[in-house]
Amino acid sequence: MPENSIFKGNCNSCKFRSCLWSLVVFLMTGTLIIYSSTLQVSWPINLWTATSGSSNNSVTTSFDRCTVTYPHKYHFILDEPNRCHQESPFLVLMIPIEPYNREARDIIRKTWGKETKVLDKVVSHYFVLGLTKQGNGAEHIEEQLLGESQTHHDILQSDFLDSYNNLTIKTMVMFEWLSSHCPSTSYAMKIDSDTFLNVRNLVSMLLKAPQHLYMTGNVIRGASVLRDRNSKWFMPVSVFPESTYPPYVIGLGYVFSLDLPRKILEASVHVRAVYIEDVYVGMCMRYLGIPVTDPPNGDLFRSWKPLYTGNCYWTSVIVTLLQNSKQLLDVWESYHAQVQSGC
Ligand SMILES: *[C@@H]1O[C@H](CO)[C@@H](O)[C@H](O)[C@H]1NC(C)=O
Ligand SMILES: *[C@@H]1O[C@H](CO)[C@@H](O)[C@H](O)[C@H]1NC(C)=O
Repeated sequence: MPENSIFKGNCNSCKFRSCLWSLVVFLMTGTLIIYSSTLQVSWPINLWTATSGSSNNSVTTSFDRCTVTYPHKYHFILDEPNRCHQESPFLVLMIPIEPYNREARDIIRKTWGKETKVLDKVVSHYFVLGLTKQGNGAEHIEEQLLGESQTHHDILQSDFLDSYNNLTIKTMVMFEWLSSHCPSTSYAMKIDSDTFLNVRNLVSMLLKAPQHLYMTGNVIRGASVLRDRNSKWFMPVSVFPESTYPPYVIGLGYVFSLDLPRKILEASVHVRAVYIEDVYVGMCMRYLGIPVTDPPNGDLFRSWKPLYTGNCYWTSVIVTLLQNSKQLLDVWESYHAQVQSGC
């Protein structure tokens, strides 16, 4: 488990903010239970009886959030069909993001997304999106995305509904896109939008990395499967019966050689999809018998920002999860200041 886990052995993805979230839910649930037992309020029956240790698959269909429609034929409605082939980048950064979050996209375009030639290697980025839910100004967002795509040529939008529980679909269509569009690219990275990325350190690491069957990032081993229905990462026994997950690389930022996407897609035909995307990639890797690799230095992929980031912090890491993408603007300045000061 990573160092920042609040609930040791409990919180499988262990992003700091997610653990906080779990804490809030935990406290709220506690309050609710006290409240409902005082008032003799009964819980909806199906919530409690739906799985109760059953291994009957049909039962799990009541757990919508655990159902992932993949494999399935999805289509890109905003695409860059030729760009990757033409540019032949060494490294492609794939950034899953919600359709409405233009602000975060623009901040990335102004910071690490604008580093397109690093250590003499071509680097490019694409944002990966699903569809906006109807209503909520969806039409306006679609229109804006079309304009953004025409201006920046970095939008890939597929026709599944964009939601937290569909992140596995997002990751899989990302693999589909990479395997069919980037024939001469060496590596790709899946990276969240609310992160700091040191592209130079990343390229530098990759120049010395294995070229085939390679995946690295913050590796988690022996994470417990959460059976508590109130957990953000609840997993029914019927969907995944083992008590621990296979080794996987935390989803906030993982890097892989470009021979892997096609193999992972082949594995996905045989491995039942789960909604926790990084765990699912780990399950496919185990099916393939390909181990995930620890980074050359344990501190390169960080799930939280330390309090003290002086002392050449930003020039020594590859990834750090931030509180939000706005924070990236300040962090980017600090990074440049550290570069200039000779870090
Ligand atoms: C699962 O449950 C359904 C409904 O209770 C039942 O019809 C079906 O036979 C069960 N399947 C298995 C494999 O137990
Ligand atoms: C995931 O996407 C599919 C396809 O668009 C959709 O039918 C489903 O409702 C979505 N699931 C969630 C939890 O958003």
